[in-house]
Amino acid sequence: MKKHFAILTSLSLFLFSVVSAHDGSQLWLQGSAPSATSTLEIANAELNQSWKGAAPVLKLNKSMKALPDGSFSITIQAGTPTIQSASEVGLLYGAYHLIRMQQTGANVRDTALVEQPSYNIRILNHWDNLNGTIERGYAGRSIFWRNSADQMRRNADGEVNEEDLLHPKDAPEIPSIDRLRQYARANASIGINAYVPDNVNASPKVLTTEYLQEVKKMADVMRPYGMKTYLAINFASPMVIGGLETADPLDKNVQKWWNAKVKEIYKLIPDFGGFLVKANSEGQPGPNDFGRTHAEGANMLAKALKPFKGIVMWRAFVYSPSDPDRAKQAYLEFQPLDGQFLDNVIIQIKNGPIDFQPREAYSALFGAMPQTREMAEWQITQEYLGHSNHIAYLAPMWTEFLQQVKEIAHCPINNQLLAMSSQQSAQGSKLKAQNSKLTAISAVSNVGNSPSWCGNVMAQSNWYAFGRLAWNDELSACQIADEWARLTLFAGRDDAAATKALASVKRLMLRSREAIVDYMMPLGLHHQFAWGHHYGPEPYCDIPGARPDWMPSYYARADREGLGFNRSSTGSNATGQYPADYAKVLDDPETCPYDLLLWFHHVPWGKTIQHRCGSKVMRESLWNALCHHYQHGLDEARAMQRDWERCQGQVDAETFADIQRRLRIQTRDAQWWKDGCLLYFQTFSTLPFPDDVEPAVHDLDKLRAIKLGITNYECPSQELLDSVR
Ligand code: GCU
Repeated sequence: MKKHFAILTSLSLFLFSVVSAHDGSQLWLQGSAPSATSTLEIANAELNQSWKGAAPVLKLNKSMKALPDGSFSITIQAGTPTIQSASEVGLLYGAYHLIRMQQTGANVRDTALVEQPSYNIRILNHWDNLNGTIERGYAGRSIFWRNSADQMRRNADGEVNEEDLLHPKDAPEIPSIDRLRQYARANASIGINAYVPDNVNASPKVLTTEYLQEVKKMADVMRPYGMKTYLAINFASPMVIGGLETADPLDKNVQKWWNAKVKEIYKLIPDFGGFLVKANSEGQPGPNDFGRTHAEGANMLAKALKPFKGIVMWRAFVYSPSDPDRAKQAYLEFQPLDGQFLDNVIIQIKNGPIDFQPREAYSALFGAMPQTREMAEWQITQEYLGHSNHIAYLAPMWTEFLQQVKEIAHCPINNQLLAMSSQQSAQGSKLKAQNSKLTAISAVSNVGNSPSWCGNVMAQSNWYAFGRLAWNDELSACQIADEWARLTLFAGRDDAAATKALASVKRLMLRSREAIVDYMMPLGLHHQFAWGHHYGPEPYCDIPGARPDWMPSYYARADREGLGFNRSSTGSNATGQYPADYAKVLDDPETCPYDLLLWFHHVPWGKTIQHRCGSKVMRESLWNALCHHYQHGLDEARAMQRDWERCQGQVDAETFADIQRRLRIQTRDAQWWKDGCLLYFQTFSTLPFPDDVEPAVHDLDKLRAIKLGITNYECPSQELLDSVR
């Protein structure tokens, strides 16, 4: 008995130490970030600490120069690996790839492979303010900018004083070098090779010499890991910090100012990547302020950067209210400028035409500017997907987008587009999004200084997924989920219990995005979020005097007749911005993918539609379909809870409890979304819920009164949510 007890104790101690080994702060990695300053040394140090087996041989092979930068090959013969690449960074990527193969149970005895990136620039955009807050950040404060003396003023609604945001009073504080190194390592391990440390709502201050010195320090830490530094800049910088009277891009003094500034930057950071610019958008200054076009503004910066091989990423996120349909605006402003941008300018376009909604049609700008370089911008931080409270694995959203853009925007249309849903139409040919040399892809990061980096451990999977897809955009969401979960939650384990739990986690991850679409905004509904912070439903939001296209009612267009935004040729004709054959498909409510139906059409409540809800294909009225999707979303949130419950004892206890708690919030939020939206839309449809849809548990008037009062820099706490619902 004693003996049994001892065995049991040591077994449980063993299991305990196995499952408690990974609390998330290590991300998907083992060991520590090597502090070497040479890339090759880092590659060797990583292999030394993590690779189990015969010592790998690392070989620089100049003949691989024809492949895109960072490409590598791995050959393993009888257990001895050889990694080859034309560059040291390629060898580092190869080292991480080899380690990942071993840790995810791939064949590491005899194999040969070549890996090359889908995009040259794989870049994270951090919306970090110089005072340490992070716009739409739900994982603590910035790892790049800190200001302990920061005393931000807030107005009565708790919003941070604009002045304090743009002009923090104190000098920059040096960020933790160790944390930056860990950040650089994590990115290199998945092939991310660039970052923008400051918010697109940029402070001119970042270009002062004082701040540039800090940027130099960051760049020095990042460089050996293959990470290039870029900066988001404020177009009015020559006026604000340069003392000029104008920022007109055609003004000689303005050009001189930028030329000198760029020179100063390259002196400090010889491999500086370039600028990211948000111009004439949401109050940011830009060339339009001086009667100039986006092309004239972008080209002025591009000329200054050109001698140093720098580039300009110019954002197309603009929506001046000159057309009644916001979804058309970026296309209307940018498409006519095709061919006018210099070749070191790349237009950065959000995946959808509105703003990172849980599901959007892809932005019609993709493929519409054949003479212009284009790149996609995704959002990792969950501004519109429940902040860090909700578990949302985003790779299914991104692979859906990639397939659509490859299939529709960049190649001739074929009949597969007539498939029923946009998910299904996404299963098509595998073409590269762009063939030009300067290809890039970006995403808004969810990284902050919280212990788990991303607000919770599951949210790390989206950072990981972005990197993996930017490297290889043909990977599947399922494969990436499998890799990430093995590396992060079940590191080093392949026992039966871990395997079962792994399957459960993957199920949870893969159903999460569609669950969110269903309980928030199914069938193509969009932007039904609470004002400002975008957490929770507010289809009933009414801010007197506010811009109509900042109001949920503008997007839902609910009335006695039906629901949805008529963007067909009988409405705003946004469908007309898409390639002709696809436009035809979208334009007809009978052929429009059901999951974009209310995006493109105003549909009568009683109209019969065919749609898929979970695994069921159904034909029923719009109202009933809507009710079924909200119900399904709530059911799926509950199913996600059950998926996670099955992991108890198999993942780190703290992580288990934290995710369990968040899933409870998520399920209560799903109920809030279902009740808030259905009760509100019912005031227009006046129809009852179908029998198999649960009655509401909330009261519409009470839901209407909810005001969370949080800023755009935080995720609501459980206590706050419990206190209002
Ligand atoms: C959204 C977001 C803003 C952000 C903007 C952008 O509108 O809510 O916080 O600044 O996108 O992408 O520039």
